Amino acid sequence: MTIPTISCLAALAAAGSALLATAPAVEGPYTLPALAYRTNALNPAIDTATMEIHHGKHHAGYVRKLNAAVEGMDVPENVELLIADLDSVPSEKRTAIRNNGGGHANHSLFWTILAEPGKGGEASPELAAAIEKSFGGMDGLKEALSKAAATRFGSGWAWLVVDHKGNLVVTSTPNQDNPLMGARYVDQPGTPIIGIDVWEHAYYLAYQNRRGDYLGAIWSIMNWPEISRRYAEAKAGAQG
Ligand SMILES: [Fe+2]
Repeated sequence: MTIPTISCLAALAAAGSALLATAPAVEGPYTLPALAYRTNALNPAIDTATMEIHHGKHHAGYVRKLNAAVEGMDVPENVELLIADLDSVPSEKRTAIRNNGGGHANHSLFWTILAEPGKGGEASPELAAAIEKSFGGMDGLKEALSKAAATRFGSGWAWLVVDHKGNLVVTSTPNQDNPLMGARYVDQPGTPIIGIDVWEHAYYLAYQNRRGDYLGAIWSIMNWPEISRRYAEAKAGAQG
């Protein structure tokens, strides 16, 4: 019988920690989505420990608290529909649903618009043309979105949204608010196609207070085919 060496065991442990994150069972209508990549896939832009805690603890926590908040309610399966109609939820549950429904929706979007370095592809011709029109090109978009993210005081998100006229707009929200919540809840309503998490839990382990370095690195892991798909869908749903 072959006895595994210490280094062999360490390698196995490392491989195990990098397995595709699976969604643990959660009681209620909403569940934690599994990641489409391993938790070490986004290195060095986002480190493995941050991914495991962010997805497996923080996002899971939003799902758990959301399920508790909607217990006994008849709610839509799609959390985006739930947060887009906050006025219709009971007022005593609205804050919990806003915070935790937003947290679930925002993170669910965030994981899908990221891809392994070198595998993020390119924006569709339609999205590239819209970025050119609104921001003068990709560098202009990066500058606008990074500025929105860097200047968001405290915890929140920076967004690229398609507004009701079909135009691309950069905005940011505090806490777990989402542009889908509408004008009663956010400054700039719209359909998000990029969301950048600027809560400290998204970057602090690797970057500490250097939010700007995190924002610089995240462009290397953008999933442009998914962002382009969201753009086409949002554009089709816009009135303009
Ligand atoms: Fe987060």
